[in-house]
Amino acid sequence: MSKTEELKKIRDEVFNLRESSLYEYRVKSGYFPVLGEGSHDAKIMFIGEAPGLNEAKRGRPFCGAAGKVLDELLESIGLPRKDVYITNIVKDRPPGNRDPLPTEIALYAPFLERQIDIIKPKVIAILGRISMGYIFNKFGLADQLETISKMHGKAYDAELPHGKVKIVALYHPAVGVYNPHTKDALKKDFAILKSL
Ligand code: URA
Repeated sequence: MSKTEELKKIRDEVFNLRESSLYEYRVKSGYFPVLGEGSHDAKIMFIGEAPGLNEAKRGRPFCGAAGKVLDELLESIGLPRKDVYITNIVKDRPPGNRDPLPTEIALYAPFLERQIDIIKPKVIAILGRISMGYIFNKFGLADQLETISKMHGKAYDAELPHGKVKIVALYHPAVGVYNPHTKDALKKDFAILKSL
């Protein structure tokens, strides 16, 4: 099966994920699940938390206010959005933009892990502390977990099934929408991403 076919299979499974507590809310609201977009051969994969309203309406990751910040940051290091892969841990929008629940993260994470296996990125850039907690625990880095204010912008080595990967945690771009300090930190951290 090609990468595109494998990713399409994941899309179909998430579309029909009736056991998710977010499924009924998605269907009732006329929303879409947000699987991810970008290059299927991306060297760098961005992992956010869960779709917001704009994302759920359009079925695309980071296409609202936080997405605008992300686009600006990508542009600041000359990395075209089409060359990276952008996704979230949780593929459906939680009501009222609340943080995803641990049960929701547990249900959707296997889809993310399959996406990582298919795309085989060399660098995983984590957007926000919720995804950071999950990824560091999952990939054997639990003992290195600290607060995001200490960890952001540093590269951590992990051994994934497809090989060695650098993992970098970043502040969530949504915080950069209203907090200029966070946005400055994000800009510096993106410069580090470029050097990787
Ligand atoms: N915030 C996220 O974490 N993901 C999106 O896709 C949009 C906003």
